[in-house]
Amino acid sequence: MSLLDVAVKAAKQAGNLMEKRMDTDKRVNYKTSSHDLVTEVDQECEKIIRETLQASYPDHQVLGEEGVEAGSEASRAALEAAREAEYLWIIDPIDGTTNFVHRFPFFCVSIGIAHQGEIIAGVIFDPVQNELFVAEKGKGATLNGERIRVSQEKTLETSLLATGFPAGIREARQVNINGILELGTKCRNIRTAGSAALHLAYVASGRLTGFWEIDLNAWDLAAGALLVKEAGGRVTDTTGQPYHIGVRNILATNGLIHDSVQRTLKDVKATGFES
Ligand code: IPD
Ligand code: CA
Ligand code: CA
Repeated sequence: MSLLDVAVKAAKQAGNLMEKRMDTDKRVNYKTSSHDLVTEVDQECEKIIRETLQASYPDHQVLGEEGVEAGSEASRAALEAAREAEYLWIIDPIDGTTNFVHRFPFFCVSIGIAHQGEIIAGVIFDPVQNELFVAEKGKGATLNGERIRVSQEKTLETSLLATGFPAGIREARQVNINGILELGTKCRNIRTAGSAALHLAYVASGRLTGFWEIDLNAWDLAAGALLVKEAGGRVTDTTGQPYHIGVRNILATNGLIHDSVQRTLKDVKATGFES
């Protein structure tokens, strides 16, 4: 089986489990705070994905959210330790755990595969909508097998943007709120639906014009960043530097509004690089 076939198989297995468990009782634990949740389903999904990929590719390394200590510092350290791997699978077993816990039906599995530090394949599966987003470097992006493209809005006034509220409430959320205050009056509207990976998949499929968020982890972004690029969009950090797997402050758009969003974030000190 190809890398992508294995990633799709793993994503669907995990997605099916979370769909089945969405309406059942779950054990909810706090990671760093009551804003940062994990359930036994997150852990079961990660186990399923690891087992599936390791059955086909036992030599490949894995960076999975539930295998890493909570908090930004531990995430950074785990990525540094794994970065040089020949092949690295970067897994978020449930992106949108808060939604999953509250039965708000917007969450997904996200699997990115890096070769020598560069993302070469990405799969995002939304089990509620049964939507499978797939990207392969240089080969484009698809949704349920059909080619997808970013949208064509040229101005902020006609753009639908999305952002999110990261777990770090004091620093990161406050910075993001500064961006929302400014962009909220400039763009058509803003959505904050609670899954960074799905927001990126929505940028890739043209449902959103752009997405930005501060202080995300490699597993939130790896698959979605490739999807946006392969769908013809632009992905950088919030200062406009090219995306790489260590980026935590992300800006992904259809390309046409990228500089306007970036300038606005800079003007209101909402890039996350200010302090
Ligand atoms: C979270 C989601 C959310 C974003 C948070 C992430 P998780 O991931 O992507 O949209 O705002 O910053 O941590 O915890 O549900 O995997
Ligand atoms: Ca996540
Ligand atoms: Ca997660």
